[in-house]
Amino acid sequence: MPNNTVSFYLLTDTHLVSPDIWEEGKPIDLRERGDQIALKATPQILDSFIDKILADRDTNVVVFTGDNVNGGDVASHNEFRDRLQKLKDAGKTVYVTCATHDYCSTGEDECVFHEAIRYTKTGTQPIPFLRKHELFDFYREFGPDQALSVHGESGSYTVKPGEGLRLIMICDNGNGRSHCGLFEDGVRWLTEQIREAKKAGDYVMLAVHHPVLPPWEVFRHMAEYELYGGYQELWKLMCEEGVRVVFTGHTHVQSIRKYTDEEGRWFLDVSTIALANAAGKMRKITVDTAAAVCSVESVGIDTLKGIDTGGLSAYDHLYHLNFPGIIEKLLPLGASDFDAFLSLGEGLLPIDKLRSHRFLVQKVCRKALRIPLSTAAKLGGTWRGFSREERRQLRKEPLITSVYEILRHIYTGNAPFSPETKVYRVFSGAAKKIDGLVRRFHIQKALDLIPPGSSLAEMAEDFLYNNRTGDDDTVTFSLK
Ligand SMILES: [Fe+2]
Ligand SMILES: [Fe+2]
Repeated sequence: MPNNTVSFYLLTDTHLVSPDIWEEGKPIDLRERGDQIALKATPQILDSFIDKILADRDTNVVVFTGDNVNGGDVASHNEFRDRLQKLKDAGKTVYVTCATHDYCSTGEDECVFHEAIRYTKTGTQPIPFLRKHELFDFYREFGPDQALSVHGESGSYTVKPGEGLRLIMICDNGNGRSHCGLFEDGVRWLTEQIREAKKAGDYVMLAVHHPVLPPWEVFRHMAEYELYGGYQELWKLMCEEGVRVVFTGHTHVQSIRKYTDEEGRWFLDVSTIALANAAGKMRKITVDTAAAVCSVESVGIDTLKGIDTGGLSAYDHLYHLNFPGIIEKLLPLGASDFDAFLSLGEGLLPIDKLRSHRFLVQKVCRKALRIPLSTAAKLGGTWRGFSREERRQLRKEPLITSVYEILRHIYTGNAPFSPETKVYRVFSGAAKKIDGLVRRFHIQKALDLIPPGSSLAEMAEDFLYNNRTGDDDTVTFSLK
């Protein structure tokens, strides 16, 4: 690799679950079904990605940005650290920060988890966990020990992945729940670090667990507490100091968004899908410091190391383990095999209530599978805008197929229905119609979902096509 090129891999939300903390049985299966990540396969997923990293002899830096394990337990942390050591032994430099899934507390601070658990055949039992203040020392040889500067209060640190480039690894735990950001002293340290890097003639990038720009507007509106605490302050700082990119995780959504302020100054938030998602990817970042150009690519896996998938790709094997993929299976089962439907729906649907409505469920499922797109076009008021040939096609295309496709892209980004497609026109029209009804009849619960100045139709666009930067997987931009 040329001297003026620096590259590194970035992985986030690995959510590693040690095989020691679960036994086959309903408790772990129901937990996995209700999630959007393949919990039991997390070791094999991570190992498959590590093999790819080890095979790349030109890229010697690997970055992890938190939710490294799923529930803060010591067993999973030990196994995660073993894998970091494997990378280190192979000559890679590893930088790690942690996030709210990496620790538990017993109530002395706000926290996602108050105990770590092991899944037995019939229930759960408590197991040892790490507390927030223990994480820094646990991982100190993977980042802090190589750092140019460490911020004591937050555990954030600055490293130099290569000549001409600095990476500030922000540890944004805050108090773990209602504020996931830096406090005043941390903001001061961050500002100084950016200015010092610039003074030394280095380009600077940030990495932090929580999102700085939300992948969807509804996210910012409904779940602002999930964003990096003090995100607007960080927007200002990045624009003023010319920091071009922040790498984030947490939302589990593959997304590249750009923010531009009133003076035309800008930055990108490159958010990476959870590694533990069926379609999990890591980012490969390459910086040409002489040309001041950064390019971001995405790398996935086709096969799973150590799992017999019966010939299926990693994605096809994993997708149906979690609720988005299970939904795809439930409707056909509801129409044809009621017992299998109840069994698969356990943990996701009120199966006790559904059990006594066998014929109604079958009828609804059969009907739902047969509704064509033309019905939505008629109800949404877009039917007349389609040509004769388009109408013929809409009558033949089941609505549910497009719904499944939208679900498949919620986390992977790059949704496929751009404004010229029939599906976009149908769904966007339907959303506009519902928008009108919601406002006319003042349906408060729906109105509460809509961000100020936005509409249901605009919100729907986030899930229909890439209305962000055009490609959630790759981007090339100037660092100047
Ligand atoms: Fe996560
Ligand atoms: Fe997270």
